[in-house]
Amino acid sequence: MKTIAFFNNKGGVGKTSMVYHLAWMFHDLGHRVLAVDLDPQSNLTSIFLDETEVEKLWPEDKHPHTILGSVNPLIESLGDIQTPQAIQLSPGLSLVAGDLGLSAFEDRLSEAWGKCLDDKTAIAGDGFRVVTAFHRVMESAAESGGSELVLIDVGPNIGAMNRAALVAADFVVIPLGADLFSLQGLRNLGPTLRDWRLGWETRKKGRVPAGLSLPSGRMLPLGYVLLNPSVRENRPVKSYLKWANRIPATYTKEILGGMPDAEIAATDPNQLAMLKHFKSLMPMAQDARKPMFHLTSADGAIGGHAGAVQDCKQQFEILAQRILERIGPAQSDALSGDVGMAT
Ligand SMILES: Nc1ncnc2c1ncn2[C@@H]1O[C@H](COP(=O)(O)OP(=O)(O)OP(=O)(O)O)[C@@H](O)[C@H]1O
Ligand SMILES: [Mg+2]
Repeated sequence: MKTIAFFNNKGGVGKTSMVYHLAWMFHDLGHRVLAVDLDPQSNLTSIFLDETEVEKLWPEDKHPHTILGSVNPLIESLGDIQTPQAIQLSPGLSLVAGDLGLSAFEDRLSEAWGKCLDDKTAIAGDGFRVVTAFHRVMESAAESGGSELVLIDVGPNIGAMNRAALVAADFVVIPLGADLFSLQGLRNLGPTLRDWRLGWETRKKGRVPAGLSLPSGRMLPLGYVLLNPSVRENRPVKSYLKWANRIPATYTKEILGGMPDAEIAATDPNQLAMLKHFKSLMPMAQDARKPMFHLTSADGAIGGHAGAVQDCKQQFEILAQRILERIGPAQSDALSGDVGMAT
């Protein structure tokens, strides 16, 4: 299984929509996919499922079919993870559903990070079981669904929950917008990822309980995806360009730790895609409960919309292929070398 987190501590940059659309695109390309909602806001879950289905997942007491149900024994210090029950959305596409109650795990995750360094085997053991809970839930769900690709959606922050989610990720894709806030977000993100990577490396050498499955904690940055809110007739407007042109150097310096060069956005190898803002398709897709590139005339995608559906399909297909190329063994080793130097 290969795990990819879509992460940026800047909110509203299209993370959840990207996970949703890529999960379907990878599925359409013939891959077995597991989508995992680790954002307590549970937006991914509410895009995949309608309210009736979500209501069934969230009865008043226990939630055995969500991520909360899987980690609840750890939250209550009553035992280890429960085998997750992923929801099958289509053959080869499943979801580990999110849960608003997952925020209750944050404090446990926070204290567990320190516990992993403890000299006492029992304390360290509890720390490792908690910190690796997301990894083990995903591993188990991916195994039962035969999933090769695991796509993780997280909330927009750099707290303990996202640290555990990212430690469970082999790769990271960074969605961003072309604005000052996204640029500032990159400046926070680079040192944070390095700190988490290094922190996990140190902890892995500690008193790990025998037989416990540990994530690699590599978090290799695959690149960024620019969500373009203002393309008109394929020509980016001026204010957009002002920020877009600064992203390549900022990404190289802050995320990869390398020397920035002066490339412009259109030729930056770290840019996985420049995604259009499909203003009218998105509400249509939400109503039809399907990805934008599955919309048909029966959903209202006629005339210009039909062309936009094809355009959208092409954009997501190129993005999906690019991600697949980069997570291939040769490329990931090369990236690993780059990141290793960035301390
Ligand atoms: N390519 C797109 N075309 C049109 N609308 C989009 C696109 N991508 C995202 N959006 C819209 O932008 C808004 C924010 O997207 P989304 O919820 O995916 O961002 P997010 O980064 O997950 O947000 P948060 O940080 O709150 O989790 C949503 O209303 C979504 O429908
Ligand atoms: Mg989101």
